[in-house]
Amino acid sequence: MGGNSFGTLFTITTFGESHGPGCGVLVDGCPAGVSLKTEDIARELRRRRPGGGPQGLGAASGRAEADEPEILSGVFEGKTLGTPIAILVRNKDHRSGDYDELKDLYRPGHADWPWEAKYGIRDHRGGGRSSGRETVGRVAAGAAAKAFLAEEGILIRAWTSAAAGIQAPGPGDPGFDYAEAAGNPLGVPHRETAERILEKIENLRNQGDSAGGVITCMVTGLPPGLGDPVFGKLDARIAGAMVSIGAVKGVELGSGFTAAFGRGSDNNDEPAPPRAARSGLPPGVPALDFKTNHAGGVLGGISTGSPLEFRTAFKPVPSISKKQRTLDRQGTVRDLVIRGRHDVCIVPRAIPVVEAMTALVLADLVLLNRSARV
Ligand SMILES: Cc1cc2nc3c(=O)[nH]c(=O)nc-3n(C[C@H](O)[C@H](O)[C@H](O)COP(=O)(O)O)c2cc1C
Repeated sequence: MGGNSFGTLFTITTFGESHGPGCGVLVDGCPAGVSLKTEDIARELRRRRPGGGPQGLGAASGRAEADEPEILSGVFEGKTLGTPIAILVRNKDHRSGDYDELKDLYRPGHADWPWEAKYGIRDHRGGGRSSGRETVGRVAAGAAAKAFLAEEGILIRAWTSAAAGIQAPGPGDPGFDYAEAAGNPLGVPHRETAERILEKIENLRNQGDSAGGVITCMVTGLPPGLGDPVFGKLDARIAGAMVSIGAVKGVELGSGFTAAFGRGSDNNDEPAPPRAARSGLPPGVPALDFKTNHAGGVLGGISTGSPLEFRTAFKPVPSISKKQRTLDRQGTVRDLVIRGRHDVCIVPRAIPVVEAMTALVLADLVLLNRSARV
């Protein structure tokens, strides 16, 4: 099976099934000398845990994994060595028995049937490799990428901008408060909206149903020049990275789909004198900034130096306890009631996953950019 690795210079290979002994990642290409402690990785993993981070309350499932990372190689006295970084997170709280009755059924909204149609064999316990647990390796690797990017002055922040059909204020709207997003149960940057969403999620839980939502991600401190202008576009890489996350069904960059209904005169970002000095430009190229950022920080696949901004859409969690109909392996129509422990809305838990994938794309591009010109 291919496709378990990601990146060109800053690369990762993730491994692990939901109910196997553990999940993890091998990071190769992280430069030497980056400050990285086990706690940096553990902190990111806690944000992904159901019930672990501030986002863990009402929206999440009850699987109570400690998610303690073990760094097996590549870090010495709190600094990366430049050698492969192997990180293992053991699975401890899996209850495979919850999945026994799903063994021969194809769950609606899940990869069960296409997986079997492709490989002929699948680990049905907890969704196996197509489980959200697979993102443990991404988040662990993302901690290393974030540590590297922080040393370059690049900061990644994501939050829940909509969930269960309710939209939160965005940057520039009255009430938007990123500190609130970092502190409330759902990662929503507005307290009242968070409370409304939580109430809706509780209603859905009582109905045995689930919800989707949208995560907005914003990156500041990006230099101009990241991304290659043809197949390696920054926005193409971001979109690919996001859609590789389970349950993602859409990505919108900058003004996105709204731009499709607007006019060029409104959508073009006007270049303006730089707000601050910029270093690293080739000789003869003036520094500039843009008055607006409809482009979301990317033009022609190359970062402009404005914040990179994009939104990622998540479908409603497919595992619902409401009765559904499906087929079994014999082709018989069967009723299905999914027990297990599942999120009603995975969006808050996916925030660190979106940040991790963004960090991995950008860490790779920062390294690739060092070979762009003499
Ligand atoms: C962090 C995270 C946690 C997830 N948790 C669950 C879950 O508890 N229950 C569930 O049915 N799906 C969950 N999913 C989504 C499924 O893994 C995904 O919808 C399924 O594998 C089908 O893939 P697709 O939706 O990308 O087509 C989760 C996804 C992520 C990213």
